[in-house]
Amino acid sequence: TPTLDTYRPAIHYAARNTWLNDPNGLVFHEGVYHLYYQNNPYGNVHSNMSWGHATSADLVSWEEQPVAIPCDETEDIFSGSVVVDTGNTSGFGADGKAPLVAIYTSAYKPGSPHQGTQAQSVAWSTDGGYAWTKYAGNPVLTRNSPEFRDPKVFRYNGPAGSYWVMVAVEAHDFTVLLYRSEDLKNWEYLSTFGPANGTGGIWECPDLFELPLNGDASARIWILTVNMNPGGPNGGSAGQYFVGEFDGATFRSETSLTEGMQDPERVPDYQWLDWGRDYYAAVSFSNVPNGRRLMIGWMNNWQYANHIPTSPWRSPMSLVRDISLVSVNGQPRLIQQPAPEVKATSESGPLQRLSINGQAAVEGGTAVQAIDIIFTPGSAEEFGLVVRGSADGTAGTRIGIRPRSGELIVDRTRSGDTGFHEAFPSTSLAPIAARQDGSYALQIFVDHCSVEIFANDGLATVTELIFPDRAQTSLTLYSTGGTADAALQLIDLGKEEA
Ligand code: FRU
Repeated sequence: TPTLDTYRPAIHYAARNTWLNDPNGLVFHEGVYHLYYQNNPYGNVHSNMSWGHATSADLVSWEEQPVAIPCDETEDIFSGSVVVDTGNTSGFGADGKAPLVAIYTSAYKPGSPHQGTQAQSVAWSTDGGYAWTKYAGNPVLTRNSPEFRDPKVFRYNGPAGSYWVMVAVEAHDFTVLLYRSEDLKNWEYLSTFGPANGTGGIWECPDLFELPLNGDASARIWILTVNMNPGGPNGGSAGQYFVGEFDGATFRSETSLTEGMQDPERVPDYQWLDWGRDYYAAVSFSNVPNGRRLMIGWMNNWQYANHIPTSPWRSPMSLVRDISLVSVNGQPRLIQQPAPEVKATSESGPLQRLSINGQAAVEGGTAVQAIDIIFTPGSAEEFGLVVRGSADGTAGTRIGIRPRSGELIVDRTRSGDTGFHEAFPSTSLAPIAARQDGSYALQIFVDHCSVEIFANDGLATVTELIFPDRAQTSLTLYSTGGTADAALQLIDLGKEEA
């Protein structure tokens, strides 16, 4: 029987006693990674939206901090971002120290003068991100809209000049709006992107950043990401991305585009950030050194988010992901890898080579571990592994590859507790192609309430919540309709307990 904390993650961040959703204000500053997040300080359902706060020196161990920006009687503090205002353009700095500036959405409550609208506001910190003061001139940007939110701000330095750029959504129009500012307080409209591609749900939490293509610093390409709820490839919340050009005012996508509203037949063609059911509201860190682009997503889905069977906390964050851009068949594609820090202090077991014909038990399955596995197809229709399995073999999460149809399948219908919401028991599909040598590589992170799969060197990821009993630790390889070979390595992440 599950205890209260049966599902508390060991290698993922979750608040100690409260609800969280979107990551907010991800920023690196003076040796500290800050993770702010949508938080209900008073309970474990979505309400009383405030910015919770956690910090980390290594992207792996997070320490919960006091609530950073609390809601009040006039506004909920919805999602947004933080920048280091190095030049003190905002004038919020003191004693020659650069302020941190948070740009967030004021979701105004009934009774407030702005009631019924969502607008962008700012707050600043001069103690490195712990104590925050709201600007008296808030909101700094309004359209008198009820669904204008999720500002992500970055410093643009390019041919058009040097200034702040904001991307924010008009959620029900399926658009991303771009603005510019000299001082983070006065904003000037630039352009609108969308609707395009996935419009099966409202648009939320956009991001815009540059990456080198194939590691070539002279070939820099812009990526616009936008989250969408519902309408994801396997149901509910998901994120998509567009690759293109930004000239300082307008983003132009070179990703093949469906303009206007979604054609349901074409859903699988879009560039999804993750194909699983539980990777949402993903945004990137600002101010990370050495050109690294790091992202975190919320590991949950609005279809059942308020019902997942955890207590007193609810919802974990994903692992931190390192994002890069490579050409695949002539198309620029995002590659996502777990930040190397996640495995930095871990111990890898020996390389095991196994031939699979039916079922093959593997020694060393644990509740929390990483599994690196390379499959070489034989005659099997489908091959893969079952993680977090029960001793009697009736329960477990199946991760399989069907080489003929080019599908990666994640089946959580027998993963553990699935009965808390009708949308939860599900099977997700993602596209997967054999690598040049004919093999398929999966890097899998198993935790007390999740599996996160990085397929074919990060070309596709699948992130799913699961709620197995703690005793479900068995690991089995399987094939159906023939044979396959596997080479695997189990990695002890050194963290069984939260
Ligand atoms: C996305 C979202 C955002 C909003 C926040 C409110 O999950 O709906 O659009 O700012 O959550 O908590």
